[in-house]
Amino acid sequence: MQKPDPHILTIFGASGDLARRKLIPSIFNLYLQDLLPQHFALLGTGRKKYTDESFREHMKEALETFSGDKADPASIRPFLECLYYVSIDTSDPAEYTRLKQKLDTLNQQLDTGDNHIFYLATPPSLYAKVAHSLAAQGLAIKKTGWSRIIVEKPFGYDLASSRELNHQFREVFDEEQIYRIDHYLGKETVQNIMVTRFSNAIFEPIWNRNYVHHVEITAAESIGVGDRGGYYEGSGALRDMFQNHMLQLVALVAMEPPVWADSNSIRNEIVKVLESLRPFTEEDLANNVIRGQYMESMIRGEPAKAYREEYGVDPDSRTETYVGIKFYIDNWRWKDVPFYVRTGKRLPTRVTEIVVHFQPTPHHIFSDYDKGDINSNKLIIRIQPDEGLLIKYGMKVPGAGYDVQTVNMDFHYTDLSEVYLPSAYERLLHDCMLGDSTLYARGDAVECAWSYVDPILKYWEKNPGKSLYGYPAGTWGPKEADDLIEEKGLTWRYPCKNLTDDGIYCEL
Ligand code: BG6
Repeated sequence: MQKPDPHILTIFGASGDLARRKLIPSIFNLYLQDLLPQHFALLGTGRKKYTDESFREHMKEALETFSGDKADPASIRPFLECLYYVSIDTSDPAEYTRLKQKLDTLNQQLDTGDNHIFYLATPPSLYAKVAHSLAAQGLAIKKTGWSRIIVEKPFGYDLASSRELNHQFREVFDEEQIYRIDHYLGKETVQNIMVTRFSNAIFEPIWNRNYVHHVEITAAESIGVGDRGGYYEGSGALRDMFQNHMLQLVALVAMEPPVWADSNSIRNEIVKVLESLRPFTEEDLANNVIRGQYMESMIRGEPAKAYREEYGVDPDSRTETYVGIKFYIDNWRWKDVPFYVRTGKRLPTRVTEIVVHFQPTPHHIFSDYDKGDINSNKLIIRIQPDEGLLIKYGMKVPGAGYDVQTVNMDFHYTDLSEVYLPSAYERLLHDCMLGDSTLYARGDAVECAWSYVDPILKYWEKNPGKSLYGYPAGTWGPKEADDLIEEKGLTWRYPCKNLTDDGIYCEL
């Protein structure tokens, strides 16, 4: 695999949770696969007063905790030698001269070509300040070497703030230098949506309104908000999952074939889908957007807290931990095909999948089997866990007559036992090092997604008392979300941990 140019990767917020849990272990994995350049340094920065040595010690512990068996002393030691630290108050532009000095020294010592990646793992309130302070030090648009900036989500809080943030970044960086993380795009199975669609001749001809009855996308989590209540209170499921991860999945399922598999061709098609989302009417907002909040219950014999009892959460909170939405894409391919998307915390299991429901057969000749929509063909793209692909189709039951039953044709990634599945962060970091932004969200896509959800946020603000339904923790969300799929015989699929199983009771 291609190796990146020499560079220094600077992480703002290096002692934080994201760096310890995800970033450092991912960079370590790249190191183990020999995918880092020979001339490379990772510079941590933040308020904490580490020295290079104490930062290395701290990161050693992180690797021992989060990298499992891979973290043996023989591999960790040389990796830690690439790590450095400079303590600055990120919110004070004057302190960036020290950052610049440290970078210059490292650049000279290690011959890193004056190339830089800056990773913002800080609170979003600091994003604009960091970008401008880097620019003031000549580290944004540069005469020698290259500079890229990676921004964590949330990218904005609503349409206005995302526009403002884009504006702030673009004052000092070119769009090509800005890498907005949506970690779902880094998942191998998410990238495989495009490969399934565009490298097989059998799916694309039927991937449209003539053959697809509806599309269902679920991102369920069994965990609650844990200790992130403070953040989640200001976010909720719509901002936290739907505006970014879910809409990116929708775009990949619905997009037209890109001209090439390069960053701009793919991202142009993503934006076209987001631009084609049919705007919500007042009636849609009232009936087709269901929000829920988990309430206390017993899960497998254990008491489970209500959201309102979680740490950092207002006891009268009206923040949604679940959202289920029915909507349409107004373009040639998808006109009037309903899309149903749901995401929530404290659901029965952790699963993310896309279900394409095909039209039932036009004429029914075998008993009752193909009379209802329930038995139409389905293609299930499982993002996680038990990653794979499943096709459900009718098959004759052996014996007299023509009894038909639904059977499965399935592929599981685990069957490719010798293939290593990189983590999302590992893939995304490596792509940024190579200058490939395909799997990062482009500024216009982020704004399009916000302009789509903005009316929902405004509607909720205007009607705070409306449509927030409780659901017992450990169930599939409020029952009102089931009514979104009104047609007779149709329901959501209730997926289990294993790709091939479904049903309301499978996790019990
Ligand atoms: C994050 C959200 O972006 O995605 C979290 O902030 C959520 O609330 C997480 O738990 C889900 O990601 P994954 O990869 O576990 O599906």
